[in-house]
Amino acid sequence: MDKKKIRKIQKKAQKEIKASKNLTDLNNVFKSYLGKKGELSEVFRFLKELKGEEKKKVGQMANQVKNLIEEEIGKKSKKIRKTEKKKEKEEWFDITMPGKEPVSGHLHPLTQAMRKIMDIFKSMGFEIINGPQMESEWYNFDALNFPKDHPARDIQDTLFIQQSEKERAGPKQRLLMRTHTSPVQVRYMEQNQPPFRIIVPGRVFRHEATDARHEINFYQVEGLMVGKDVSVANFRAVFEEFFRRFFDKKVKIVLRPGYFPFTEPSFEIDCSCPICGGKGKCSTCSGTGWLEIMGAGMVHPNVLKAGGLNPKHWQGFAFGGGVDRLVMIKHKIDDIRLFYSSDLRFLNQF
Ligand code: DAH
Repeated sequence: MDKKKIRKIQKKAQKEIKASKNLTDLNNVFKSYLGKKGELSEVFRFLKELKGEEKKKVGQMANQVKNLIEEEIGKKSKKIRKTEKKKEKEEWFDITMPGKEPVSGHLHPLTQAMRKIMDIFKSMGFEIINGPQMESEWYNFDALNFPKDHPARDIQDTLFIQQSEKERAGPKQRLLMRTHTSPVQVRYMEQNQPPFRIIVPGRVFRHEATDARHEINFYQVEGLMVGKDVSVANFRAVFEEFFRRFFDKKVKIVLRPGYFPFTEPSFEIDCSCPICGGKGKCSTCSGTGWLEIMGAGMVHPNVLKAGGLNPKHWQGFAFGGGVDRLVMIKHKIDDIRLFYSSDLRFLNQF
């Protein structure tokens, strides 16, 4: 061991102290020179083997270097602490400040309405049923007692699927986009025995020019309740409850005679205008106080038969209408196309 070696240790230690970026680095430097097995501690152990003048000289020098390293580590440690404090101050932020609210989406107004409708009917014991959007002509028309020459079957009103002559051999094979949710009535009757009550929410398609009141596709909800003695009185009760809860107001309903091939008798359901309270003072009801809202009736015996039920044993009511229209009335929306426009200025209002 000579002085040169001790100097070398000193230089190396100084270099490492300088390069230390944080207190952990510095602590490591301390350990590797002044710790139990540190390089300088080795020197002190080695002193025992020296004698006389040499021992004195080397000892003195080792002590000097030890003090120097300790001093420099001390200084550096202070410096690191200071910069860390400063950094902390700079990075400090007020956790009590209100944050930026992340932009999140929400359900479409039609979806919200459908869910509300389903909840209301579910609470009255109705089951939710779905059916296919692409339907056969048979379920969409024939089984529902539409005459062969009914204008709704015209390609002016209905979107038929392109098929070859062979593919559309019979009405059960002839495919179209369902024009209403009523075909699901027959599909359900085929598979289930009464008594039952169901509602069918879903998308329907019409081949027509679009304007503020017409869309090429929109949403309907269909209802069907069949039992031994289900009557128009039951229908009224169910409907009054539904309207009151959907519009959050008490509304009056009247049944006007109407015509649908699949019901007999058939009615148009009008409800007192929920906007002006039936006073006839608003544009939603064009000043009449009443709004035409849905179609309904007692299920036609031919429809029960098409579903495999004996009309002598079973009877029931059915109803159906546009969800879009209900939402338009509820929120005074004057153009059905807004629902399908993806315009956030419109959607964000719900
Ligand atoms: N399917 C009819 C339509 O699209 C609505 C309708 C009327 C459904 C009377 C019914 C009903 O179930 O009984 O206009």
